[in-house]
Amino acid sequence: MSSMKRCMHDRARGIPTLLAGALTLALALTGGPATAAQQGTAIAAQQGSLHELAVAQGKYFGSATDNPELTDAAYTAILGSEFGQITPGNSMKWDTTEPVQGQFNFAKGDVVTDFAAQHGQTVRGHTLVWHSQLPSWVGALPSAQVEAAMTRHITEEATHYRGAVTAWDVVNEPFNEDGTFRTSPFYTAMGSDYIATALRAAHAADPDAKLYLNDYNIEGLGAKSDAMYTLVTELLDEGVPLDGVGMQAHLAVQYGFPYQMQANMQRFADLGLDVAVTELDVRMALPADAAKTTTQSGYYRQVVEACLAVERCVGITVWDYTDKYSWVPSTFPGQGAANLYDENLAPKPALSAVRTALGGADDGGDDGGEGGDPGALKAQYRNSDSSVGDNQIKPGLQLVNTGTTAVGLSDVTLRYWFTAGSGAPDYRTWCDWSPIGCNTVTHRVVAMDTPKAGADHYLEVGFGSGSLAPGASTGEIQMRLNKSDWSVFDESDDYSHGSGTSYADAPRIAVYVDGEQVWGVAP
Ligand code: XIL
Repeated sequence: MSSMKRCMHDRARGIPTLLAGALTLALALTGGPATAAQQGTAIAAQQGSLHELAVAQGKYFGSATDNPELTDAAYTAILGSEFGQITPGNSMKWDTTEPVQGQFNFAKGDVVTDFAAQHGQTVRGHTLVWHSQLPSWVGALPSAQVEAAMTRHITEEATHYRGAVTAWDVVNEPFNEDGTFRTSPFYTAMGSDYIATALRAAHAADPDAKLYLNDYNIEGLGAKSDAMYTLVTELLDEGVPLDGVGMQAHLAVQYGFPYQMQANMQRFADLGLDVAVTELDVRMALPADAAKTTTQSGYYRQVVEACLAVERCVGITVWDYTDKYSWVPSTFPGQGAANLYDENLAPKPALSAVRTALGGADDGGDDGGEGGDPGALKAQYRNSDSSVGDNQIKPGLQLVNTGTTAVGLSDVTLRYWFTAGSGAPDYRTWCDWSPIGCNTVTHRVVAMDTPKAGADHYLEVGFGSGSLAPGASTGEIQMRLNKSDWSVFDESDDYSHGSGTSYADAPRIAVYVDGEQVWGVAP
């Protein structure tokens, strides 16, 4: 059985979880309602959660979270259903867990581990030793007392979370950009030996936890990752307990993609270490635009691809999944839009890119040589209708082949979801213009068996013939529809409706190949 087929079967098992997610937020990926004849393929097309897709590839997919967000039910619905691993953004840091010497408080961290237990998730503990978010009393200690304080802190915290935390970022951010050791109370007191001491203390407290060193700007080859490589080589030579290297991966579209990320991961893996992407986000200068958004999707995709290509890459954690709770705007003024979902928890193109890279858009096992990579299609949309309340809906659609092989168009359909409102139940659909010729474009309106928020019908667009070359676009397909009695629509709440008047990637318009969804998020 091909890996793609296995992965499709794994996804099928994920359907109940998905339906639960769909009920709460109507954001889960489904094949969408279909005609009876399509039901079989539609079910096969059901895609699992991000984590389920990752598990099918031998990885986990996780998200950071934080205590204030855990009271947001819409947020926790996705956190609990899409992700198989969580990392507390703040609540296991030293200033929270031991704000006063010897006074430990694990209440906030416990909320995170409880959430994980309730949702069948693993937890990465973050972080035991770090120069930041460190209470001032540590820096005020006489040097001779720092080691004991550090060891005690590690021992208390790692012991408390034994069994609840599967991996620890034992030391966070030990390096400067040039690869020299960062100054901190620990480095000042013990030199670089503090790292081995910290790892040994963590191992003694929790022999089962995977122990990591974690840093940023070590994703690609360079001076800082070289320094990490040298350090971990020495630690392993000395027999210090160390299981992995965490690459934070706080990327930015304006700084380019890390240089040779896969090769860099592989060299750590070749030492016998695990590698994890621990804090992935891809920020940009605001406002976001189509070019930055496309670059961002590409970076997310490339991180997933690098991890998939390295067997010892165990998984990926995004540093929160939504722009609503991102650390970026407050830390990097003027920047943001760094995450997979927007501030309203709506999926962004980057999410589709991740899903596709995880194999969520494969062709259901038809990888044996028909040619074409159906996963490599995307839909773009523009609104050609300035009125949201008139008697026509006019979506402009484009289909783009982002892959490396030609795709036969006769197997491809797109769906644009809308609500009918009152009026006649039958429709007229029109292709007004397209450079590929409207005579090759087929179209119809389908009523959904199970209406969703913003969707009780969809416009289905297909192709009678033709093929789309790698990198090619159909160019715009100017679609239009009306009810037979010309009664009005209210498009403002339609699922696929957008206000943009120039073409942009459209995650709310889905693309199917042979009935299997390869792009977008169905309502
Ligand atoms: C960030 C948190 O997300 C913020 O809420 C907090 O104010 C500052 O720290 N690298 C890390 C994380 O290792 O701990 C940081 O988290 C982001 C950068």
